[in-house]
Amino acid sequence: MPQKHLNIKAPPVFIFEPPDRSKKENTIMSTLVIVGAQWGDEAKGKIVDVLGNQASYVVRYSGGNNAGHTVITGGKTFKFHLLPAGILHTNTLSILAGGMAICPKALLEEIDRTRELQADLGALKISPAAHVVFPYHRLVDQLEEAARGDNKIGTTSRGIGPMYTDKVQRIGIRMGEFVNPEIFRERLHQVLEFKNRLISLLGGEPVKFEDLYDEYCGYAERLKPFVSDTESVLQEAVRRGDRVLFEGAQGTFLDLDHGTYPYVTSSHPTAGGACLGTGIGPRDIHNALGVCKAYATRVGEGPFPTEQDNEIGHQIREQGHEYGTTTGRPRRCGWLDLVALRHSARLNSLSGLIITRLDTLVNVMELNVCTSYDLGNGPVDYLPATTDEWSRIQPQYQTLPGWSEDISGAKSWDDLPINVQNYVRFIEEYTGTPAAILSIGPDRDQTIILRPDLIWA
Ligand code: IMO
Ligand code: MG
Repeated sequence: MPQKHLNIKAPPVFIFEPPDRSKKENTIMSTLVIVGAQWGDEAKGKIVDVLGNQASYVVRYSGGNNAGHTVITGGKTFKFHLLPAGILHTNTLSILAGGMAICPKALLEEIDRTRELQADLGALKISPAAHVVFPYHRLVDQLEEAARGDNKIGTTSRGIGPMYTDKVQRIGIRMGEFVNPEIFRERLHQVLEFKNRLISLLGGEPVKFEDLYDEYCGYAERLKPFVSDTESVLQEAVRRGDRVLFEGAQGTFLDLDHGTYPYVTSSHPTAGGACLGTGIGPRDIHNALGVCKAYATRVGEGPFPTEQDNEIGHQIREQGHEYGTTTGRPRRCGWLDLVALRHSARLNSLSGLIITRLDTLVNVMELNVCTSYDLGNGPVDYLPATTDEWSRIQPQYQTLPGWSEDISGAKSWDDLPINVQNYVRFIEEYTGTPAAILSIGPDRDQTIILRPDLIWA
């Protein structure tokens, strides 16, 4: 007699179904992070605008209006600080994700300004988990910078650092709370007590609750329709295989963990930040492209080994109009740092580079590129961890021939002078990363796509 089965079902945890190994993982490659591979201002905005119409979603995942992204199209110049550059594409949903620092006043002004320039915009969603930047953050940013004296960071004074400090201290106010007047009142009461103590300590004028609450309730009312869950929207989009473009702000060496600490921003601009800031898992980030200038710039204080505080730096600044989009500050200019760029390629898992501003280098007839760092005891092949070591770096250069031809009208690789081609090839070889796109001017059309296969993989 066959033994009778006991009618007890094993709990699901014991059921082992061997995975189907014939199925290929990650066959859909639809998500792409565009990350700043240097110190910010790499022309990410232009690139996101160019690629944005190929995406269903464009997502900002970190930072706030410390960013300045310029898009020039149809004779109009758009300057974005908070809105994703994808907003100009009507069939794209733009998302401000949870990792962001959002100043409501600046965002509303930006929406109005953008609408004046172009009536038809794409839709916008704001994550309820994004944190809100208030005037007391800006005030603390300025007071702290003044208190730092010679050790100042050179922040953008937009309150970004103090806001992320509140987030980590667990007293920040999130968008979801902000758009509910009752909860906002309660939270603001609690937080303002803390902040005013700090402001007094730093020698500032305390912020009045009623004035702030009334003004900001008005902004909250206008922003409320945009605030709803973005995590599940994005997770569903990824599951369907829709194209999602993550728009990085700032740059790799401004990353709180991976940058030239403490001369960094307070968020995570690196590709990994796209996971944290949006709620998308690491395996769902399929591709990352790093935007880098053909030279290097930095705005604010902090290490910059290849800086050229001389005639060459001046020439690059003037030819490239290297003045900040957000603060108008002149940017520090220098040679391309390939040691840093190679590190950036590894840190961000870059599958390709987007090399911008090649046109700016016209008539710089000897181009230096930094190929190794020397800290005084011979070459090192790592990036230092302390400001002291960074300041001791003696960059070692290789010199490549420049060009005098105007390349801003080139349409393809073959239109580029041989010295431009060799410069690009040198960057590719040193970093072990192919160039996917070249940018030779600010306009959408001044873009040469070399490797479409590297973009949406
Ligand atoms: P985009 O997106 C360049 C720099 C500031 C300062 C440091 C800290 O346009 O590339 P913060 O105000 O963030 O606390 O300042 O970071 N910084 C940027 N530099 N481009 C940016 O953004 C930047 N955002 C912040 O100059 O050195
Ligand atoms: Mg900028």
